[in-house]
Amino acid sequence: MNEIKNSSDIIIFGAYGDLSFRKLIPALYHLFNDDYLDADSKIISVSRQKTSQEEHIKLTKEKLIEFIEPELFSEDAFEKFKKLLHAVYVDFSDNDTYKDLKKLLDKSTNEDRISYLSTSPSFFGDICKSLNHWGLIKPSSRVVLEKPIGRDLESAREINNQVLSYFTENQIYRIDHYLGKNTVQNILALRFANRIMMPLWDSTNIDHIQITVAESVGVEGRWGYYDQFGAMRDMIQNHLMQLLCLIAMEPPCSLDANSIRDEKVKVLRSLRPITRENVASNTVRAQYEKGSINGQPVPGYLEGDGVSESTTETFAALKVDIDNWRWNGVPFYIRSGKRMQKRNSEIVIQFKNVPHSIFQNNGEPVSSNRLVITLQPEESITLSLINKVPDLSKNMRLEEVDLELMTPCTLKRKNEAYERLLLDVIRSNPTLFMRLDEVESAWKWVDTILEAWEDNLVPMKKYTAGTNGPSASIQLVAKDGRDWHEE
Ligand code: BG6
Repeated sequence: MNEIKNSSDIIIFGAYGDLSFRKLIPALYHLFNDDYLDADSKIISVSRQKTSQEEHIKLTKEKLIEFIEPELFSEDAFEKFKKLLHAVYVDFSDNDTYKDLKKLLDKSTNEDRISYLSTSPSFFGDICKSLNHWGLIKPSSRVVLEKPIGRDLESAREINNQVLSYFTENQIYRIDHYLGKNTVQNILALRFANRIMMPLWDSTNIDHIQITVAESVGVEGRWGYYDQFGAMRDMIQNHLMQLLCLIAMEPPCSLDANSIRDEKVKVLRSLRPITRENVASNTVRAQYEKGSINGQPVPGYLEGDGVSESTTETFAALKVDIDNWRWNGVPFYIRSGKRMQKRNSEIVIQFKNVPHSIFQNNGEPVSSNRLVITLQPEESITLSLINKVPDLSKNMRLEEVDLELMTPCTLKRKNEAYERLLLDVIRSNPTLFMRLDEVESAWKWVDTILEAWEDNLVPMKKYTAGTNGPSASIQLVAKDGRDWHEE
C-alpha cells in the first residue's frame, strides 16, 4: 500500500496518438494498480476521434495488451481500471467543441486536475485558451507539455507565452521523459551522495565525457512528425542536453526543484556557442541509407512512406565545450541517431592517465579509469579500474577490471519513466520538469547550429543503417586523439 491515494482528473489531449497508448495509459494503469491513483479518478481521453464509451474501452484494452509486459496485464485489474476511462471528442482549435468536456468535469468532485497536452505544440495555445474560456482551470490545476516545445527559440517563446497567459509557471510541467529514468536520477545520487566522486569530478581528473543515445529503431510511422524535427530537435535539444546538465552542473544547495533547475540553467548558459566559423569542425549531421539490423534488411530514411527527398538529419554528433572553471578544456562529445547498430544509451566519464606511469605492461598501453553510466538497454554503472593480472610473470602485467556499482532495478517496467513523472505531477513535484529558462537556453544554443546547417555550412553525410553513424562522427573525436566508447 502506498502513501495517500490521489483522486485526480487526468485529461489527455491527443489521446489517440502513439504516445498516449504506448506510454501514458500504461503508466496510469500501473499507477492505479499500485494504489497511487484512487478509484474516483478520471482518465479523460480527449481527441478528434468520435468514439463511443464501449469502443474506447475496447481499444484501450487492446492497446494496453499490446504495449505492456504480458505478465502485467490482468482481466480483473482492467475491469477496475476501465471505470476510470472516459472518451470525449474535441476539435482542439474549435472552442465550441469543449462543451462535453466541461459537462464531464463539472460533475467531478476531484480537486486535482491535470491536463496533459500530447498534441502538436501548435495546439497548446488554443487548448489552454479554451480551458480558460470554459472555466476549467482552477488554482490547483496543472498542465503538462510534451516536448519538443517549438522548433526554435522564437516558436518556443511564442508557445510558452500562450500557455503562460492561462497558467502560471508553477502550474506548468514541461516533460522530458529522460529525467524520469532511474539511472538519470541516480546521477544526482552518484555525484552528490558520494564524497569520493567530489574531488574527481573536474578538469584536473577528467579527460573528456561522451554521451550517446543510439536507437536501432527508425521513425516508426512518425515520419510526418520526425521529418519536421530531426535528431537535433527531437533528441539533442532536450534529452541529451538534460543529461549533459546533470553531469556538468555544480552541486545544488538542496533537492528542491528550483535549486536543481538553477544549476542546470547555469550549465546551459556556459555552453560555448558553436559559430558559423567552427560549426563544420564541431558538428556532424547525417541521414541513414538502407542496411541491416540484426540480420534484417531495413530501408533507408528516404525509402519509407513514399518519401524521396528530405534534408532532415537522423543522426547528429557534436563536440561541446563548457566555459567555466570546472570544465575548462574538457570536451563533451554527444551523439544520437536512429537506425544505429543497437539500442544503447550511455554516459562515459573518461578519466586522465596517471601523471607518471611506473608500469611497462609488456609494451601494451595502460588504460585509464572510466566510469560508464548505461541507461539502456539495461541500467548499470561500471567503474573500470586497473588491476594486476594474477600470474607469476616476471614483469607485472596489468588489465582492466570492471566494478559494477548498480543494484538491479526493482521496478522493471517499460514505462517506468512516465510512471515516475506522472506521479510527480500528481504529487505536484516539478523537480524533474524543465523550467521556462532551461528550454529557452537550450534552444538558444541549438538554434545557431540549426541555422548554419540550414545554410549548408555542414554537409549532410550518409550512414548505413545498422552502423554507428558516418565516418565523420568517428573523425570528430579522432582528430582530438580520442575514440568513441563502443562495447
Ligand atoms: C522521444 C523521441 O522523445 O524519445 C523519439 O521523440 C525517441 O524519437 C524516444 O525514439 C526515445 O526514448 P527512449 O526512452 O526509448 O530512449
